[in-house]
Amino acid sequence: MIKDPVNKNIVSQKDLRHFLDIENLSQSLILDILDLAESFAGVSGQPVKKVPLLRGKTIVNLFFEASTRTRTTFELAAKRLSADFLNINIDYSATKKGETLLDTLRNLEAMHCDMFIVRHPSSGAAEFISKNVSQNISVINAGDGRHAHPTQAMLDVFTIRKYFSDFKKLKIAIVGDILHSRVARSLMHAFRILEVPDIRVIGPKTLLPNGVQHMGVTPYVDMDEGIKNCDVVIMLRLQNERMNSSFIPDENEYYNLYGFTPNRLDLISKNGKVMHPGPVNRGVEISSEVADGDRSVILQQVSNGIAVRMAILSLSMQP
Ligand code: CP
Repeated sequence: MIKDPVNKNIVSQKDLRHFLDIENLSQSLILDILDLAESFAGVSGQPVKKVPLLRGKTIVNLFFEASTRTRTTFELAAKRLSADFLNINIDYSATKKGETLLDTLRNLEAMHCDMFIVRHPSSGAAEFISKNVSQNISVINAGDGRHAHPTQAMLDVFTIRKYFSDFKKLKIAIVGDILHSRVARSLMHAFRILEVPDIRVIGPKTLLPNGVQHMGVTPYVDMDEGIKNCDVVIMLRLQNERMNSSFIPDENEYYNLYGFTPNRLDLISKNGKVMHPGPVNRGVEISSEVADGDRSVILQQVSNGIAVRMAILSLSMQP
């Protein structure tokens, strides 16, 4: 552990065996990861899209929840680093026959795997796994419940840095279902650590966590007021799978109040960008015109996920 002016209890690069959360990373470590990702970004454009950094290592995707972007970009990142890569299909694994999670892990350890990339519907699952694997295994959190999605936050800040060089001058809004969003939680930590001076969260009161202002952000219920002059607006989908009751009256009303429609583009800064971690629900939180328009960087976020995940995999497995 080393000291940092923004974050007092932080992980240094040499402690980065597991990548479970953003909140204990230092500003300098986040910037180092972004710089390393920058150096990997060119690999995808080479005729042979590979570097030999993780040759001989075995990485396993353990996804207990649906995913398109995270699952695939982790696989591409691992393969571009020359690692051997396994996708465990949980629906066809022995967990469906009653095997416990820990027994599944023990069996994968017996196959001499070096890293588990874990997505799980329960908050804290990746940390639990990290505490129950042997010393030589790394664990990466690919999204746990509503708790954290740290690699998504890293690829989002990487994307923002492509357009805005100084985080300390930015106005950034996150809009939608903040309450159930692990992406929002990880982004709020990342922006605080990077000293973004104006972080806003926007949504109906039912979808804003109690006391969210104590996370260093300003809550807004009125979207038009909240996105005014923002450099970056990050739209979130309604996380229906994590709602145990109805949090909004109906989707049409939600779209009118919180949907990013073309008329709202005039409210953000003239160079402002629209982001979304995906999956996008068109006509619920964002219109197709905005999602596919020239202010949207949604697909660039996906592409950037490969380089950022290459950086995180390589740092977590350094000797
Ligand atoms: N952003 C994100 O986590 O997308 P997936 O659920 O498709 O991985």
